[in-house]
Amino acid sequence: MIIAIDGPAASGKSTVAKEVAKRLGYKYIDTGAMYRAVTWKALKEKLDITNEDALVALARGSNIEISDLKNTHYTVTIDGEDVTEAIRSPKVSAAVSTVSKVPGVRNALVKKQRSYADYYPNMVVEGRDIGTVVFPDADIKIFITASPMERARRRYRELKEKGHKIDLSTVERDIITRDKIDSTRPVGPLTKAPDAHLIDTTNKTIGQVVQQIIDLIKKQLVSG
Ligand code: DC
Repeated sequence: MIIAIDGPAASGKSTVAKEVAKRLGYKYIDTGAMYRAVTWKALKEKLDITNEDALVALARGSNIEISDLKNTHYTVTIDGEDVTEAIRSPKVSAAVSTVSKVPGVRNALVKKQRSYADYYPNMVVEGRDIGTVVFPDADIKIFITASPMERARRRYRELKEKGHKIDLSTVERDIITRDKIDSTRPVGPLTKAPDAHLIDTTNKTIGQVVQQIIDLIKKQLVSG
């Protein structure tokens, strides 16, 4: 069974997706981490991130691996290098939308994402275009959202906890900018699939959202 979870930045979808995967014992694939890993490598190699050909070659030629969940932790490696923490830096966050809007980069990563289904029949796959492009035949599609202010507050708290010096209005502005780039790109834009279940997490706890999704999955299993 493939469960597609899409939604904008800081909507709570990662926390929810990991928890759902853990409860079901399914493989968890964070596709945002894959775009971040390519971005991290491009920055490390000092590529000009407006050079699309170079980015596509890099995305095609890189080996990205996402480990199995241990509780709700997982590691991301690119060509064997552990980048789990590095891909969350503000520098990578600022550049990732530019890299992920390149059609050839998306093609390369979508191929990798689809190939995971050959190994893992049961997966929770999280991203922006999973229900629309990567797995349009997913068994369950969820689109998770929350108000921009709530998402900014959540991301701000996360960054603060990690020791980043940043203010709330900058975080909110960055989130709105990223949403705009992600939703208006011509290939694989962030958008809800018509058959996706919409869940607004603004006034909900993680536990409530996870339970709502588990209930949807159970219903689906019963109705076949
Ligand atoms: O989920 P995230 O914030 O870690 O994703 C990082 C970026 O990657 C986000 O700005 C959009 C992009 N992304 C994408 O274009 N397609 C996906 N399936 C997942 C993420």
